[in-house]
Amino acid sequence: DAIALIKENIKLNNAENKVFVQRADANRYMEQLAEERVKPHIVDLDPFGSPAPFLEAALDLLGGRGVLAATATDTAPLSGTHAKALRRRYDVVPARTAWEKEQAVRVLVGYIVRRAANREYAAKPLLAYYADHYVRVYIEFERGARKADKALEMLAYAYYCPICQYTDYHKYYMRRRCPYCNTPMIVVGPVYSGPLASEKIVTLMLEELGKTNWLQNSKRAYELLSLIMAEAPITKPYYRVDRLCSWLHLNMPKLSKIIEVLQGKGYRATRTHFDPRGIKTDAPHSIVVDTVLKLALSSTPQNQIGFNRINYSST
Ligand SMILES: C[S@@+](CC[C@H](N)C(=O)[O-])C[C@H]1O[C@@H](n2cnc3c(N)ncnc32)[C@H](O)[C@@H]1O
Repeated sequence: DAIALIKENIKLNNAENKVFVQRADANRYMEQLAEERVKPHIVDLDPFGSPAPFLEAALDLLGGRGVLAATATDTAPLSGTHAKALRRRYDVVPARTAWEKEQAVRVLVGYIVRRAANREYAAKPLLAYYADHYVRVYIEFERGARKADKALEMLAYAYYCPICQYTDYHKYYMRRRCPYCNTPMIVVGPVYSGPLASEKIVTLMLEELGKTNWLQNSKRAYELLSLIMAEAPITKPYYRVDRLCSWLHLNMPKLSKIIEVLQGKGYRATRTHFDPRGIKTDAPHSIVVDTVLKLALSSTPQNQIGFNRINYSST
């Protein structure tokens, strides 16, 4: 049985003085600890599906201090595939974007920021990412109404053009057309629009990783953290370059080449941990489309260049 196995593991790790096991309903147990005025440094929620049903008790227990770690495996609602569940569970105007994995992370972080703010706690992500089929977040809290107001300023509606992938954030919900191709835009939000990682924390984690030679898959962890570090200052969601190229009716150029050209023009640009077909950049949309178009044209045989591309390239 699970409890016996956990106890055996504790023994194997010589951790009898550090770890104890409690079998209880998580919400009731967190409420009990809060009543006993226990002040944990960290609460880690790892439920089946969404952490939302456990969030209230975890926030009350933390009392605006420490760190909340949470895993969400309900990625279909979070990424917009199940629109109704996304609205119901996370109180978000639902949509499907090309940057669905970043959407999942930004929806969850945004939801935690809002739930914390109504208790006058400011929430800020130390690290938030997508891996395999789950979202993982580590959120730090501070107390104070003004700090909570400041944290809320990081929430926004994300506007997305389903044709050309133009994306930006706006404080308010409204009807808009894409400033690039004039298509009616779709909206998802509120979402968290700030950096998804603290550079300081990720640097410390990378240093720590260098010392932990026992860790299985440490190469994967190193690659993930390095990418997250490079992406963190670029808050605009990633581009799916394969989709950009299918819109342009052109072959996909090498991502490394696109990144090199954008960096050469003075912009930030990097691959993203969210998707191997994606890039993240702070370059304006017109520069991204232009760069991809030029590189794709030079790598697409002349006889495969279709009529559609000529229309788009003139805009
Ligand atoms: C995804 S698993 C956690 C796995 C664990 N963290 C690990 O790494 O091995 C979710 C666990 O939450 C437990 N669980 C589900 N609802 C619960 C509740 N209301 N209170 C306490 N535990 C619950 C389930 O029995 C299951 O063991």
